[in-house]
Amino acid sequence: MVAALFRDKLPQPEDRVLYPGCGTGAFVGGVLRWCCARGIRPPKLVGVESNPRLAEQARAAYSGQASVEIRDADFLTAPLQEYRFVIGNPPYVPITGLCEREKALYRKLFKSSRGRFDLYLLFFEQALRSLKPHGRLVLITPEKFLYVETAAPLRAMLAQKDVQEIRLIDEQTFGDLVTYPTVTTVTNSPAHGSTLIALRDGREVRGSLSPDGGSWLPVIHGSIERPGVPVLADICVRVSCGVATGADSIFVHKVGVLQDGLRGFAFPTIAGRQLGAENPDLRTRQAMLIPYARNGRLFDETELGALGKYLRQPSIRTKLVRRTCVRRKPWYAFHETPPLPDILRPKILCKDITAKPQFWVDRSGKLVPRHSVYYIIPKRAEDVDALCSYLNSARVREWLDANCQRAANGFLRLQSRVLKRLPLPTELMYRARAEDQHGGARRSPRESRRKTAARVSYAFEFAR
Ligand SMILES: C[S@@+](CC[C@H](N)C(=O)[O-])C[C@H]1O[C@@H](n2cnc3c(N)ncnc32)[C@H](O)[C@@H]1O
Repeated sequence: MVAALFRDKLPQPEDRVLYPGCGTGAFVGGVLRWCCARGIRPPKLVGVESNPRLAEQARAAYSGQASVEIRDADFLTAPLQEYRFVIGNPPYVPITGLCEREKALYRKLFKSSRGRFDLYLLFFEQALRSLKPHGRLVLITPEKFLYVETAAPLRAMLAQKDVQEIRLIDEQTFGDLVTYPTVTTVTNSPAHGSTLIALRDGREVRGSLSPDGGSWLPVIHGSIERPGVPVLADICVRVSCGVATGADSIFVHKVGVLQDGLRGFAFPTIAGRQLGAENPDLRTRQAMLIPYARNGRLFDETELGALGKYLRQPSIRTKLVRRTCVRRKPWYAFHETPPLPDILRPKILCKDITAKPQFWVDRSGKLVPRHSVYYIIPKRAEDVDALCSYLNSARVREWLDANCQRAANGFLRLQSRVLKRLPLPTELMYRARAEDQHGGARRSPRESRRKTAARVSYAFEFAR
């Protein structure tokens, strides 16, 4: 980081380097060693630290250095001064770590204090404001500012400057703290040319960062999207989240404990946690009791038989009635009506949130995905294996990495609106076009549903 700070900008003794949130002063040592190794006089170093104990330790550590000044101050609220260089490792403090007074104050002072902001975003903004024209900043932060919605204002601010490098560095940089660290180098000049992006696999690419606050991941990972290229939605009947009952503890049971009368309503079901290398055949012992007919119609209470008797038990009925989702529908309905004619056909399954997306084929078509599973149903059942192997390719993984939102722990969220946009390779494109020529993709939704229902009737026989 020190080398990046001074690349093509040799520091002069009269230059000042700001080190916000300096803690005990790690980068002070870094700058002094860098200068000493090159036989040059170090610039002035100003560390700003709000924790007096740490500030005192930093002062003690560099007491013999006339060029070093450590200030006890709040970097975010202290009067601004301009520096030729800024270097640092800002505090990573989520909004939950701030008191109401701090939140209100920061919301007034910073453009980057949008939504559930993190303190490092504000440090970034303040560090940018502290730069002299043509000055340089190097900060190490979590990578999230590259893509989360909350950081859109910061991205818009940064994109006006000359962002020279974004280095996604080793995940182990901070030991077990998973922060996906990223070192960003910015020069305070108007944006021009492209940004060098160093990826964690060692590759380096160049790209122009979107100036409107949009996610930078598509540029960073190199998008495979091309206008006019068919996407997953073109060859699928459905790309959806699994069935939400609104009360899995009541509707989902081990198959072995079900009474005979309930078995007629039971469908094998699978949850996200059951998808994994250790279960390649998608085995499950869980069943979902479904009070819907095969055409998707909710059974009348008089048709429910043993299921009705089970659901009407006072403790169970009370829980079902309390669900807000049944305010405008019968008390035993699911949170969402399960589209059974679509679900019970050969399909591809994946977890809704995962570190590494992986896809499995339910060839029999009899599994009902739980809410923690996404399911993808190709229009032609014979495409299911080719499509699944494409979805498991490195190319798709890269695209998902670049386009999916991330959960707080860095895991990818596989949302259907994103999955539907996934570009298809030539082979599957050809199938999509062939289907088109036979009226597939251009069918009206009603006609499509009718044909689908006819094709999958066998699946119900199998499942029941
Ligand atoms: C991630 S640590 C970095 C310190 C570390 N020695 C380094 O540079 O690697 C962030 C530091 O910022 C300090 N800090 C937090 N909020 C601050 C603020 N508003 N003003 C100044 N320092 C602050 C913390 O006390 C902590 O020492």
